[in-house]
Amino acid sequence: MTIQLTRRYSFAAAHRLHIPRLGEEENRRIYGKCNNPYGHGHNYVLEVTVSGPVDPATGMVAHLGELDHFVEREVLEAFDHKNLNEEIAAFRERVPTTENLCIEIYNRLRSFPAARLARVRLEETSLNTFEYSGETDGSPS
Ligand code: NI
Repeated sequence: MTIQLTRRYSFAAAHRLHIPRLGEEENRRIYGKCNNPYGHGHNYVLEVTVSGPVDPATGMVAHLGELDHFVEREVLEAFDHKNLNEEIAAFRERVPTTENLCIEIYNRLRSFPAARLARVRLEETSLNTFEYSGETDGSPS
């Protein structure tokens, strides 16, 4: 019997959508105002879903404090109030779209020891939300 737990977090970060090898004009065409040279910020809302059996001893799937501590250590400390392009190694070579940010966060959280990471959902604005549940073919992402 499996149950899912979803916990909500938030962080603020800046980014610029730009792929250097494409040149200025092509970047402007693809990313529009998200290509502004000085970047812009978002208040991201992150939902982390873990799943597993209910522990008969505690009646819980995972201890919330343990999940909070893990997300804080692996994601929030690294990303909150940071410039994603400049301060996160993964985005030196990869454009920090929210799609790629969602995958990066998933990969950072997948080793959560107390329950299986089922899904990461990342809200960029009230209009845009992205979800990632890992690769479905079983190969590492
Ligand atoms: Ni943006």
